Amino acid sequence: MSEITVRDPATVRAVMEWRGAVPPVVDGPGPTLALRAAMARFADATEHDARRAEVEAAIATVDVEGLGEAVRVLTRARFGELSLDANLLARRVPTQALAAALGLDRVDVADVDAIAAVIGRGSPATPAADAATERLLALAAAHPAGAVAAVSLLYQCLDATAALLLTTLHASVSGAPRVAAVPRTRRVAAREGVVGALAVSVGDVLVVELGQAGLEFGAGPHECPGRAIADAIVLAMCQELATGGYDVDPATVTTDADGRLVAATLSRADSSGRQLEPGS
Ligand code: HEM
Repeated sequence: MSEITVRDPATVRAVMEWRGAVPPVVDGPGPTLALRAAMARFADATEHDARRAEVEAAIATVDVEGLGEAVRVLTRARFGELSLDANLLARRVPTQALAAALGLDRVDVADVDAIAAVIGRGSPATPAADAATERLLALAAAHPAGAVAAVSLLYQCLDATAALLLTTLHASVSGAPRVAAVPRTRRVAAREGVVGALAVSVGDVLVVELGQAGLEFGAGPHECPGRAIADAIVLAMCQELATGGYDVDPATVTTDADGRLVAATLSRADSSGRQLEPGS
């Protein structure tokens, strides 16, 4: 059993398409880890298809045009301020707008953040996170696609869409190509096999470099089903910020080890009317 970093683009795709490589399991007590275990995102091949159908059904309930309009309204609501915290805006507005689009207006973004810390960022489950999970599942209990599917969408939206927004805004001021919003994912080999250029043994942990392979939305059975929604959110917010005259202040930019913008101030100094285009 070893940890293998997969960089070759063809092998990255092959690993993501191979059913023998499954998302890592995190065992533990409490509703937050139980929610993680019930999500499509972390399902193995035996359970994935049914859960995938549920998240796709939840996505199908979203009116994408209405979602974009909600993003615009929530973004405009901040226009009284001379400078905006890009990270705060990128984390709050998309999740609030998506929650409303799912009919879950009373969702508190702080609750989604609390579960994302445990499920997505590897923090230990805490009573506070477990209480957040219970509140979210209770609010989503009546969703036609099921509470787990609806809460899954909020969870998946939060960090990834913030990253897509921030990397897009960053590229618009730096002039450099946009870096991948999701640089990598992990898999564990559930069986032995030869995948692309790689021979794997049972238990090998695969660190799959999606971004370098140009696959920031993933590939294979778990490929992101929320891409159209995420693109609509980012387009609406970038257009609205440009209309409001807000631009990233380059002096305030902080990036992470993958070159992704993680903190910056948006200032109203630029009156050139330049448009910020997603994917630039
Ligand atoms: C509204 C926003 C979003 C929603 C609702 C959403 C939803 C989802 C869901 C439900 C999954 C799990 C699918 C499955 O396992 O079958 C997923 C996977 C994924 N999403 Fe998204 N997503 C969103 C935004 C994004 C963005 C902005 C990115 C990157 C630019 C992204 C990248 C990914 C990747 C890489 C995976 C696969 C992870 C893996 O296989 O390990 N998502 N998404």
